[in-house]
Amino acid sequence: MKVFVTRQIPAAGLDRIRNVCDCEVWPDRLPPSRDQLLEKSAGCDGVLSLLSDRIDAEFFDHVGPQLKVVSNFAVGYNNIDVAEADRRGIAVGNTPGVLTDATADIAVGLLLAAARCFREGIDNVTHEQWKTWEPMGFIGQDLVGKTIGIVGMGRIGAAVARRLHFGWGMSVLYTARSEKPEIDDQFNARRVEFSTLLAESDFVSIHTDLNPQTEKLFGDETFAQMKPTSVLVNTARGGIVDQQALHRALQAGTIFAAGLDVTEPEPLAADSPLRSMGNCVILPHIGSGTVASRDAMATIAADNLLAGLNGQPLPHRVAAN
Ligand code: GLV
Ligand code: GLV
Repeated sequence: MKVFVTRQIPAAGLDRIRNVCDCEVWPDRLPPSRDQLLEKSAGCDGVLSLLSDRIDAEFFDHVGPQLKVVSNFAVGYNNIDVAEADRRGIAVGNTPGVLTDATADIAVGLLLAAARCFREGIDNVTHEQWKTWEPMGFIGQDLVGKTIGIVGMGRIGAAVARRLHFGWGMSVLYTARSEKPEIDDQFNARRVEFSTLLAESDFVSIHTDLNPQTEKLFGDETFAQMKPTSVLVNTARGGIVDQQALHRALQAGTIFAAGLDVTEPEPLAADSPLRSMGNCVILPHIGSGTVASRDAMATIAADNLLAGLNGQPLPHRVAAN
């Protein structure tokens, strides 16, 4: 069986694949270009892909009809046309569950960093502007007893709610497609309309997937409904936030600050004004970046790939919406 793995991944998964497949791994730190992706995948029975690889009809045409499985090294799969894969009988896998806590920790870290002016503080120290203790400087927002609004109450949203409710005594509001009685019970949480969440939350954390309904969900009108003291956290997908509108909101003080682990595009354009905003803390998409999470992602991605190659059900298969 011939397999292309589009980037180096932890040995925990790669060794399992190498043991049984004719496997080529893209060796560079940067992703293969479109042409390189198509060329290396051509003739493969399976491909282990990353979020930066676009997997669509053109890709499938190019790779050939022997392709059985695409295993994405991520829980999200907005890089893959799953409906098209389904039509062609190609199984698509993802890595759910194993990065929930790691990502929730990054969301809480960003919330704290943005609320308490870490970016301005770190810049101040790094650029040797730290001359004295400033009674009027670096004044942020309190966390205890405030209200967190969670947009998309899935596994990661619930893990964030747990941390903030039990750790900081926050009230929890959320939006979700369906009622979540167990969440309401555990965190004394309330499912509300999006507009209510915006108006009543001190912190808003995004945990929904990117789809046509959530694309640019946060824009000028959304920010205008949020409190001027509020903090927006995004660890989901950059495309859910209109980056230009966010810049305007941060500059005008429409909201207090933002913490982003995801941007659109990634990396942010070199001249993006968000890069230099003191009240915008930005990380390079490191939500799943712990030893245990990345090893587990590699293991699941390998298991999905091998199951697909053997014509067996994938342990974690995704279905078209
Ligand atoms: C990361 O963004 C993932 O979807 O795993
Ligand atoms: C994603 O929703 C996860 O918790 O794996």
